Amino acid sequence: MKHIQFSFNTSITNLDTLILPINDQGEIISLENPLPQQSALNELSKSLAKSGDFSGEVGKTLLLVKPADIEIQRVLLVGFGANDKLTTKGYLTSIQAAADALDHCGATHIVNAAIFAKPAAENIKWAVTQNAQIFQRSFYDYSHESRGSHTLKEPKVESMVFPCADYSTAAQQGQATALGMALTQELANMPSNFCTPTYLAETAIQLGQEFGFDIKILDRKEMIEMGMGSFMSVAQGGDTPPKMICLSYKGGESSQAPIALVGKGVTFDTGGISLKPGAAMDEMKYDMGGAATVLGVFKALGEIKPNINVVGVIPATENMPSGNAIKPGDVVTSLSGQTIEILNTDAEGRLILCDALTYTQQTFKPSKIIDMATLTGACIIALGHHVSAIMGNSQPLVDALTAAGQTTYDRFWQLPLGEEWDEQLKSNFADMANIGGRAGGSITAAQFLARFVKEVDWAHLDIAGTAWVSGNNKGATGRPVPALVEYLLTEAKA
Ligand code: BES
Ligand code: MN
Ligand code: ZN
Repeated sequence: MKHIQFSFNTSITNLDTLILPINDQGEIISLENPLPQQSALNELSKSLAKSGDFSGEVGKTLLLVKPADIEIQRVLLVGFGANDKLTTKGYLTSIQAAADALDHCGATHIVNAAIFAKPAAENIKWAVTQNAQIFQRSFYDYSHESRGSHTLKEPKVESMVFPCADYSTAAQQGQATALGMALTQELANMPSNFCTPTYLAETAIQLGQEFGFDIKILDRKEMIEMGMGSFMSVAQGGDTPPKMICLSYKGGESSQAPIALVGKGVTFDTGGISLKPGAAMDEMKYDMGGAATVLGVFKALGEIKPNINVVGVIPATENMPSGNAIKPGDVVTSLSGQTIEILNTDAEGRLILCDALTYTQQTFKPSKIIDMATLTGACIIALGHHVSAIMGNSQPLVDALTAAGQTTYDRFWQLPLGEEWDEQLKSNFADMANIGGRAGGSITAAQFLARFVKEVDWAHLDIAGTAWVSGNNKGATGRPVPALVEYLLTEAKA
């Protein structure tokens, strides 16, 4: 993927394309450093406001090519609305609109003056990160045979200058986040006949070669021998080989325990014998969104190389009905030794994650575990599509992740855990059932996972509502890569 060159310069002299932030009065929003022909630009913009040609509202843009009396090839006016009403969401909406407006135009070298400390609690550094992320991501085009054979036009944009002091670390974070998100989106969008557990494993191996991560892949035979009876019970219905994919990034002291990221990698979820209804079943190709997030975060870690140790663990399989498939009422023994009565084969995410959690603790002795999974439809009912659910056994960890989500606008909302919900998992035939009824479905799923977490700080992210967008604009979002990168970088600095 082509990297945009981001740089900083407080005195701009020549430029081919200028992004200019405008308020609802048609005025240029006050800039730290003056631009060439700023007063002429201000007059022009105000006259366009008066004539009704540009309102300056949030999300509105107007591309002026060779405006009269101004020696700049392209000026993109970007509306940010009323100065005192701009929200974080509004700022990000306008930056995205600017990126969309410049996608595939002739611009090659852009000066982006829409860097200002407007959204109340934010600052210039934050704005640089967000702009680098949004522009790097928008100028990226996916090409893979699974998307058909049309050829893509390469984006022309080469570089972007921010007219402010040097915040290159902030730009690098945004850019690396974008590259990570692009990988997450690419994997998640890929149909399940291409994106198999083996393909996810190969992607990890490639990342390992590119960035020097240690990679270990377990196959079906090894996992059966090790006693991962729960994970293997999900995988037994499919002919596609399951994998446990482990990545480790060592950027910190060798004595420092790693932070573990565990991601659900169900490359297609039919529900198994508890078969799902047909409507929108295609979207269950996205049921590896947690796995794709882990790989995307590792891509970003490889780019940034922060001072921290991180392991990624991905249980990957299809969930298929077949003559070999697990059936409702079957009892299996997990790697932890606890037995599970599988009352619904469609609650498969927790069945693969529980063995991955045990394996992660045994193998990597992490200081913290963060798992992420498109785990429950109930999460969408509870919270909708704008925030992911977060639950955990450590309030400081939940708080730190929630703060990282707020900063990146990749937000989490906490749901409770407690013994009352845990009781819903009671089984007469095994240590627990794999479902706890309709009430509090996202919480009982997390309670199930909590039974496999032993004395380590743990947070669970249910990304069922946020990993992809449904409908005619269907596609993966790349979430929650931004929040996790922000969290890990904050941990690396601490
Ligand atoms: N992958 C699904 C959850 C899901 C469904 C995510 C729809 C996004 C959209 C998960 O494996 C699942 O099927 N969960 C069941 C659990 C139930 C059987 C307790 C669900 O949510 O219906
Ligand atoms: Mn399922
Ligand atoms: Zn699933």
